[in-house]
Amino acid sequence: MPAVRNRSSRRPRRDRPLHDRPYTLLSCALSLDGYLGSASPRRLELSNDADFDRVDAVRASCDAILVGANTVRNDNPRLLVRSSARRDERKARGLAPSPIKVTVTERVELDACAEFFTTGETEKLVYCTSERVPEARSRLGPVATVVDGGKPVQMRRISEDLGARGVQRLMVEGGGKVHTQFLTDDLADELQLVVAPFFVGDSRATRFVNDGRFPWNPSRRAKLAEVRQLGDVVLLRYALSGRFGG
Ligand SMILES: NC(=O)c1ccc[n+]([C@@H]2O[C@H](COP(=O)([O-])OP(=O)(O)OC[C@H]3O[C@@H](n4cnc5c(N)ncnc54)[C@H](OP(=O)(O)O)[C@@H]3O)[C@@H](O)[C@H]2O)c1
Repeated sequence: MPAVRNRSSRRPRRDRPLHDRPYTLLSCALSLDGYLGSASPRRLELSNDADFDRVDAVRASCDAILVGANTVRNDNPRLLVRSSARRDERKARGLAPSPIKVTVTERVELDACAEFFTTGETEKLVYCTSERVPEARSRLGPVATVVDGGKPVQMRRISEDLGARGVQRLMVEGGGKVHTQFLTDDLADELQLVVAPFFVGDSRATRFVNDGRFPWNPSRRAKLAEVRQLGDVVLLRYALSGRFGG
C-alpha cells in the first residue's frame, strides 16, 4: 500500500497520471428491500460479525474512508481499523493506524465532539461549500482540516483533491446520498454490497441510492465479480470500471 504523500509533493496538473482520482470502492450493507437502515434515527445493524471483520480488513487496505454528514450525525461512527494486528501492520508500513477520515457537508451542522472527530490518530477532512468555509473552520477547525469543496460541492472535485493529497485507495461507506453521487458521476471502480436476510418495509428509511442517471442500466450491465456467503449475509462484489482488480 503506497504511503499517503505529503501535500507538498502535489504535482502540476499536466504532469499527473491519467488516473488522478483514487481507486474508489463503495461499501454498504442493505436489507432485502434495499434500505441502508430503518426509518428511526437509531442505527440498524444489518451485517454480522464475520462481515464486520471483512469490512475491517478492507478499511485497513485503504488510504481514506468517506461518509456523508448524515451518517456522521445519525450513526456517530468511529471509522477506525478495529483489529490491533491490522493497525500494527499499517504502522509497520509507515502509515497511520487507520485511514484518513473524510466527510462532506453543506449545512456544516456537525458536532466537534462526534466520534468521527475525536477518535483515532489520523487526519480528518471536512469538505464543505465555499460560502460555509469560515463557519466550518470556526466550528471544526480545532478537530479537522476544512477544505473548500466548491459551489456546489462535487464528488469529482473531492476525489481529485484526495488524489492530490496522496490518497490512492478510497473507501466510501455511505450513506445513500453520497453513494448516489459517486455512482451517477461514474467515480466508482468497485461496489461491495452486503445483503442482510430481512426486510425494513418502511419507505421513510434511507435507500441505498436515490433517483439518478446511473451508468449501469439494462444496456450496460455491471460485472458481477464475486459472490461470497458470510454466515447469514451475502457479499456481492461488482466491477464498475476497468481499474477493478488492476
Ligand atoms: N447500511 C450501511 O452500510 C450504511 C452505511 C452508511 C450509512 N448508513 C445509513 O445511511 C443514513 C444516511 O444516509 P443519507 O443518504 O441520509 O446521508 P449521507 O449520504 O450519509 O449524508 C448526506 C449529507 O452529506 C452531505 N452531502 C452529501 N453530498 C453533498 C454535496 N454534494 N455537497 C455538500 N454536502 C453534501 C449533506 O450534509 P448536510 O446535511 O450537513 O449539508 C447531506 O445531507 C444513516 O442514517 C445511516 O444509518 C447505512
